Amino acid sequence: MKLKIAVLPGDGIGPEIMEQALNVTRAVCEKFNHEATFTEAIVGACAIDAVGDPYPPETHEVCMQADAVLFGAIGHPKFDNDPNARVRPEQGLLRMRKQLGLYGNIRPVMTFPSLIHKSPLRADLVEGADFVCIRELTGGMYFGRPQGRSEDGDTAYDTCVYTREEIERILHLAYKFAGQRRKKLTVVDKANVIATSRLWRQIAQEIAPQYPDIETDYLFVDNAAMRIIQWPKSFDVLVTENLFGDILTDEASVITGSLGMLPSASIGIHTSLFEPIHGSYPQATGKNIANPAAMILSTALMFEYAFNLQEEGAAIRRAVNASLEAGVVTEDIAEGGKAYGTSEVGDWIAEYIKSSILVTL
Ligand code: IPM
Ligand code: MG
Repeated sequence: MKLKIAVLPGDGIGPEIMEQALNVTRAVCEKFNHEATFTEAIVGACAIDAVGDPYPPETHEVCMQADAVLFGAIGHPKFDNDPNARVRPEQGLLRMRKQLGLYGNIRPVMTFPSLIHKSPLRADLVEGADFVCIRELTGGMYFGRPQGRSEDGDTAYDTCVYTREEIERILHLAYKFAGQRRKKLTVVDKANVIATSRLWRQIAQEIAPQYPDIETDYLFVDNAAMRIIQWPKSFDVLVTENLFGDILTDEASVITGSLGMLPSASIGIHTSLFEPIHGSYPQATGKNIANPAAMILSTALMFEYAFNLQEEGAAIRRAVNASLEAGVVTEDIAEGGKAYGTSEVGDWIAEYIKSSILVTL
């Protein structure tokens, strides 16, 4: 199969973890006989430095032409510490989401047997936790207008807007995931207070009967925040609006114990995008110490979701698990044991894939 992939390494540790993701992607292509083409483009702080725009039109074009986008990370401390900066890397991210129509952000939350002790939660609570957060990504308060300040600067406002079409689209995506998993969907909202949430709940109640084999339940977001920590194993698929999803997915990431392990996928109208959830980690930039696992696991999601190549995704996951078990890990996981470099871990995983015997699912 021909795989047309846009490569957006971005800022901070983005380029070095991306190099390992491509290393692994090449190994998978060699093993399974695919032909990948990679087209690189700039995004984030490095694009502001180069052309004054965090998501330049040329980059958008490269993404539009691709079947999948691999994305590293964006952000730079010089923008975080300058509240008056005219353009910010994050604006590029939001524009990219909107222009590519990346409406569904999928964040799987799982545990790795050899990392259970890294979670701040009790092992018996998190062991075996395995759920997927589906966050609506192109609506809600992130994009609602008007947004701004009063003339005297002392009043500020945001607007949360959702249309029926946006809500139906993300709910159907969530049901699709639930149907392929343990057939349980939790709709998270704040319908006791917020008008958009009441529309979410109304539409979810309308749609639920179309999926009779899936159990639908409803939680208010505050209650969901509690239950994610207290009973992480009670969730299968959770769906929610943009801002709630932003908050809940960071919370859910502590279940795994290491931010460096969690991939994500954003399902889009024009193309889909795959990125680690950890961000640009500026302090580690260029040191060859960053954990490439989340970026590599994001390529597993790319094979599965963008190309429907399940065995390829599974092979990557097996290889990452094997590296954890073999102790070939970066310093964030090594804990006093030997810490390997970003490139050593990537090479080990790529070699493991190339030398492993194909297992048919
Ligand atoms: C995320 C991030 C972004 C968001 C930021 C960087 C704008 O936190 O992808 O979750 O809020 O969506
Ligand atoms: Mg976030």
